[in-house]
Amino acid sequence: MRRAATIVLILAWVILVPLHSIAKVTGPCVNCHTMHNSQAGVSVVAEGPVPCLLNSDCIGCHAGINDGSNTTPYVLMTDSVPIYESTGTEADTNTLAGGNFYWVAISGLDRKGHNVAGVVGLDSTLGNTPPGGVEDPSPSKQLTCAGVNGCHGDRDVYSPYKAMSGAHHNNDMTLWKNGTTLALSYRFLDEVQGLEDTDYEYRPTAQHHNKYYGKDRAGEADRAEGTISSLCGQCHGNFHNGSGEIASGTFGNGVWLRHPTDFDMARAKSRSGGEYAGYNGGTGTGNPYSVVSPVATSDTSTNLNTTVFSGTDDAIVMCLSCHRAHGTPNDAILRWDYKGWPAGGYNGCAICHTEKD
Ligand code: HEC
Ligand code: HEC
Ligand code: HEC
Ligand code: HEC
Ligand code: HEC
Repeated sequence: MRRAATIVLILAWVILVPLHSIAKVTGPCVNCHTMHNSQAGVSVVAEGPVPCLLNSDCIGCHAGINDGSNTTPYVLMTDSVPIYESTGTEADTNTLAGGNFYWVAISGLDRKGHNVAGVVGLDSTLGNTPPGGVEDPSPSKQLTCAGVNGCHGDRDVYSPYKAMSGAHHNNDMTLWKNGTTLALSYRFLDEVQGLEDTDYEYRPTAQHHNKYYGKDRAGEADRAEGTISSLCGQCHGNFHNGSGEIASGTFGNGVWLRHPTDFDMARAKSRSGGEYAGYNGGTGTGNPYSVVSPVATSDTSTNLNTTVFSGTDDAIVMCLSCHRAHGTPNDAILRWDYKGWPAGGYNGCAICHTEKD
């Protein structure tokens, strides 16, 4: 009886451990932690001990050059210009889904990214005020990676490190992140849902990309909690939701006051002829997914959405259909150069507005 139980336990370990070791931090503790912030009498981190006994701050670990084999996602390049091309998705690019802080931080161009403390100084035009009006919790200082003034971690906790506690050691990118805990939240964005591409969208294709959670809303006041756009809405309030802010007349049946998000494009497909049915070169059923202008889905399975208009609410416009979260070479952190077109630039709007190109 006891031997049987042991065999069952060993089998369970053999089966479960490989599954659970995908993506959470691994390696000797000393690679990332320092017990006293001191080595031979010299401080390990000059600016003083980092919380969680870490030997680096967030950006220290997350700066580098992505080459497809790195397991730490790099969001800042410092020595050379990241390869972004027109859309950040071409075969030779080396930025990830969030883009890169290079242009805002190293080139010093405020409009090309979020001005995160420790990466770059304040945005000289916008300061700490997010356009669109803050919902909650309200940031009061310069943006940080995590915490009340940031995007990652528990947004009710001030310290970025305390806000992130427990996330790195409990990560598993093979699961549908259902937002119930921080480690179970999409990219450690508290309560946001989604399926994470294991190389963070390094050179993405329709077969290999993040799966974003979206909601086809009944009304403009719906905050659509759990969607990636609702996270942006926590700081850019009425760009996402609020009575009288998004739609003129009935939400989804009239004209818009602000570009729709958390709205399923299928609802517009029927009334607009070929415009949206032609999303990304398709015919209106099973269109190929576009990594240039991605859409979110209400489907919470771990099946990747490689096509669009194949199920219910799988063509949801979101903030990330047009923007990236960290930085790009384009103003307003856009995925493509909207202002430069048609002389140069790139018309990513045409992925959806197929009859306006
Ligand atoms: C690759 C980097 C890395 C390695 C290796 C690593 N850690 Fe961590 N650890 C972190 C980071 C980053 C945090 C802080 C943020 C968080 O909790 O997500 C952390 C937080 C912690 C915490 C507090 C939060 C929690 O999950 O309990 C403990 C305790 C901890 N580490 C212990 C260890 C021990 C013990 C080892 C060695 C077996 C180790 N770590 C190896 C990166 C690492
Ligand atoms: C000591 C190095 C280290 C530090 C410090 C560190 N990270 Fe990480 N981070 C990693 C590694 C390694 C991974 C990839 C493994 C994983 O997902 O846990 C990672 C992954 C992530 C991810 C992707 C998670 C996912 O599910 O895809 C996010 C987001 C992140 N870190 C944010 C932060 C923030 C915010 C801080 C500061 C509060 C921070 N990191 C500090 C090493 C670090
Ligand atoms: C914690 C609050 C917060 C969250 C969450 C947040 N932002 Fe911001 N955002 C700001 C602040 C503050 C500014 C103004 C300062 C700056 O540009 O860094 C800003 C500026 C911007 C700008 C204008 C950049 C410029 O300088 O012209 C864009 C575009 C933007 N955010 C998009 C987004 C998107 C998309 C999301 C969701 C993925 C998001 N933001 C989430 C706080 C936030
Ligand atoms: C991911 C798909 C998608 C992308 C990308 C996109 N749009 Fe839209 N857009 C829509 C949908 C869907 C509607 C709502 C249509 C409706 O309700 O009939 C819309 C509505 C609009 C409207 C308002 C129309 C009205 O009747 O009120 C304008 C203007 C617009 N988009 C311009 C743009 C521009 C400019 C860009 C590029 C910067 C862009 N869109 C990118 C899907 C998209
Ligand atoms: C259809 C494409 C599209 C979508 C979807 C979209 N944006 Fe934008 N956004 C733009 C463009 C284009 C600009 C710059 C020109 C303009 O303001 O029209 C912009 C500008 C911004 C700015 C800067 C405004 C300023 O005052 O400088 C912020 C902040 C922003 N967007 C946040 C968001 C958030 C948050 C969402 C989701 C709720 C979102 N955007 C959805 C296309 C889009």
